[in-house]
Amino acid sequence: SSDVCSSDLTETASPTFLSGIQPSGRPHLGNYFGAIRQHVASLEEPGEHFFFIADYHALTTIHDAEELRTNVRELAATYFALGMDPERAVFFRQSDVPEVTEITWMLATVTGMGLLERAHSYKDKLANGIKPSVGLFTYPILMAADILAYDSTVVPVGKDQIQHIEMAQDMATHFNSRFGEVFVRPEPRLPARDDMAKVPGLDGQKMSKSYGNDLWIFEEGKKLKKAVGRIPTDSRAPEEPKDPDGVMLFEFLALFLDDDELGDWRGRVAAGGEGAPGYGHLKVRLVEAIDAHFAPARARRAELLDDPAELDRILERGAERARERATAVRDRASKACGLR
Ligand code: ADP
Ligand code: TRP
Repeated sequence: SSDVCSSDLTETASPTFLSGIQPSGRPHLGNYFGAIRQHVASLEEPGEHFFFIADYHALTTIHDAEELRTNVRELAATYFALGMDPERAVFFRQSDVPEVTEITWMLATVTGMGLLERAHSYKDKLANGIKPSVGLFTYPILMAADILAYDSTVVPVGKDQIQHIEMAQDMATHFNSRFGEVFVRPEPRLPARDDMAKVPGLDGQKMSKSYGNDLWIFEEGKKLKKAVGRIPTDSRAPEEPKDPDGVMLFEFLALFLDDDELGDWRGRVAAGGEGAPGYGHLKVRLVEAIDAHFAPARARRAELLDDPAELDRILERGAERARERATAVRDRASKACGLR
């Protein structure tokens, strides 16, 4: 057979990864397993990599300038401590690329109200008592602009963001059908393991900053013990045999323990009887496992935060590279719709 492998084909096959996290508080285990870990892992795959701190998005909920600035540095230090490499990825702050807000406007004009009204995350936020601004309502348009501004093809996120990415696909399609082929269609990518795509919170619902049920990645000592202590259990005695799938602590242990060890604990809980571990034992093991997993990164984070000027310099270098791409895409979009 004469399979053609033109350079053109290989070029289009090379993915552009992009994702962002809001600096809306201290990053938690859900952000780690659902997002940061996959972002770092994607660096091993060929292609281009764009990752950013979504500070424009965070303005919808953070209303204190100093807090926002602190959160941005915290998130940058967290990423770098956990293995994000600003040499291999373009790592930047969203607001350093104002072209994204211009693209947001262009997309807003092709977005129906109905599309935004169906957004789960908007409805959730309302249900949780957040007073909505127009910015919160149009949040998915800004997110679509983030994605489309870099010709991204793969967007690694946790499950809760899938709908937003589908909205970005819709906006790209609407714009392209009105003005011609301008935007590239992105696809979401979830973590390979389903439990990592939706990490439970300390109260059993989805872990989220906005639900106050989150565990900070670098929590340690007494505070870590106290947080793990909050994971709900029941009053059954250790000796009573239990279905491990009904024991919430196992959802957390599964994130940290290897299969052999996890299987062993599950087997002992299922068997019950004398010597079966109680919930207290499982909690002690979970605290140890979290501690061991994050201790090296915890130390690196502290060092990075000691030199905020260096963090700022890294973000500025990333911004320059990001702006180059976003400017080209903005120009393509403005030309197509007659703005220039
Ligand atoms: P939060 O819900 O705490 O505000 P963000 O919306 O800032 O978190 O999420 C940033 C990234 O982390 C997104 O990719 C999101 O899908 C992922 N993420 C957030 N919470 C979880 C979770 N509980 N499980 C898996 N991934 C999550
Ligand atoms: N909305 C995302 C979140 O809360 C953050 C985000 C903003 C994002 N822009 C993005 C994620 C673009 C992926 C791609 O987690």
